[in-house]
Amino acid sequence: MAPVITALDSTVFTGLQENNSDICTLEATVVTGLEDVAQQECREKLGAPCTVARGRIFIDIELHRVPEVLKLRSVDNVNIILKMVQSFGFPSEREQCFEKLYKFAETVDWRKGMKVWKEIFHYSDDPIKEIKTLQNDYAKPRPELDLKSLKASSEIINQLPQSILPEHLKTGGHNSVPEVNNTGIGLTEQKTPVGDNNTSDAVGPKFRVTCNRTGSSHKFGSPEAARQFGAGVNEMFGWPVSLSKFDLEILLYIDTEFVYVAVCLTREPMFKRNLSHFGPTNLRATTCYNMIRLASPKPGDIIVDPMCGGATIPMEGCLTYSNSMHIGGDNFGQAVKRSRENIENLLKKGKSMPIDVAQWDATKLPFRDQSVDVIVSDLPFGKRLGSKIDNRVLYYRSLVEMARVTRPETGRAILLTQDRNSMLKNIKRVPMLWRSSASRTVNIGGLTAVIYILQRTSLCPDPIIMAEKKSNSIIDETSQASASS
Ligand SMILES: C[S@@+](CC[C@H](N)C(=O)[O-])C[C@H]1O[C@@H](n2cnc3c(N)ncnc32)[C@H](O)[C@@H]1O
Repeated sequence: MAPVITALDSTVFTGLQENNSDICTLEATVVTGLEDVAQQECREKLGAPCTVARGRIFIDIELHRVPEVLKLRSVDNVNIILKMVQSFGFPSEREQCFEKLYKFAETVDWRKGMKVWKEIFHYSDDPIKEIKTLQNDYAKPRPELDLKSLKASSEIINQLPQSILPEHLKTGGHNSVPEVNNTGIGLTEQKTPVGDNNTSDAVGPKFRVTCNRTGSSHKFGSPEAARQFGAGVNEMFGWPVSLSKFDLEILLYIDTEFVYVAVCLTREPMFKRNLSHFGPTNLRATTCYNMIRLASPKPGDIIVDPMCGGATIPMEGCLTYSNSMHIGGDNFGQAVKRSRENIENLLKKGKSMPIDVAQWDATKLPFRDQSVDVIVSDLPFGKRLGSKIDNRVLYYRSLVEMARVTRPETGRAILLTQDRNSMLKNIKRVPMLWRSSASRTVNIGGLTAVIYILQRTSLCPDPIIMAEKKSNSIIDETSQASASS
């Protein structure tokens, strides 16, 4: 498992060394558990030094090569790191923490990061016209920005949506829906000044600060940290703040004493790239890519997703491994319709796609024996779709069917599921067909899931399938008995 971020030694990053104006350090986020796959892609395509931490990789690269990083298929968001401090030294008093966070803005080297940001977003003006010295101690505290410190008597609660109020403050109606998040900038779109010093002649990019904070020892909340730091930025550069219509997103990460500042280089997460028609359980395009990569596809391979939902895996597959054929299917008619619409939409963009989808039952695939090279699939989990009882039957039958259609010895299957028990039990039932060569735990939408990497054995499955088919009725009876008990 990748080390936690606080275990990183920030001195290894060339891009963060003082006076290094050619190289920058980028952070690229990735689904936890797949960091090494992203690292491989980075090394293979960019040949750049790449360090792994949980949920992200760090890349040192020349400034002019940043657009190449934005073309990686395995990562979700890319940020440029401006400053990293391993031991921030938060004071024990709240106000002193505010002061330190506010003044932290002055210690950051903004020029290199803003130069890259300007290029990526084609911002025509120079974002840093002048840098003013901070005049205040910190921005005046506004307890209303921290819901934890909101009192029942406060008039502010009447203006907040009930859905965001802590239980003890929920009362009755409310008549406006202001925005509150951990940017800590304001309650509504920025008419309210950050640091109480916004002026109507504010110039430069509209910005917001988003704070991600971990650790229970802090004397302040994430919105307060973002607000103090944002107030410092606002005062230094005069940039106006906008919570929702911002040009520039500044990220402030605080993990206990480990603090870093980054500027976001991706307007929206890259995993949204392929879909136009969304379903109930869409897998991120980036996770699809990482799974396909784990199968090491070769030119000419036939790659099948027998339970493809909206075709997220076949679509990412044909865009990245266009020398292979990608085929998906699902037993749910709506899913197949959605798949076709998604593919149609990509075709309209002029993409050439070696892909097809069909409606089928994954336990009775319309393929000849030993005709498929690779299976990559995101199986029904049981929580969001299907049930664990169904999974026990479905997983077993599909493992046998996948073995029938794949090539002995070279065939492989990359299977994602959250129903670890059903999968483990059924893999154990078919050791003559599949050998589990590895597995990895991943975080899928907040749920712990496992990717199994299976290798076909050399055994010819026909006699085995016949034997197992007989026992299918036994499995069904068992599941029915469990369902009714
Ligand atoms: C987790 S979803 C796949 C989601 C997909 N990766 C996506 O991003 O849209 C699992 C899919 O398996 C399908 N499924 C369940 N049982 C099946 C079966 N026997 N044959 C084919 N598809 C099946 C469900 O209809 C569902 O679309």
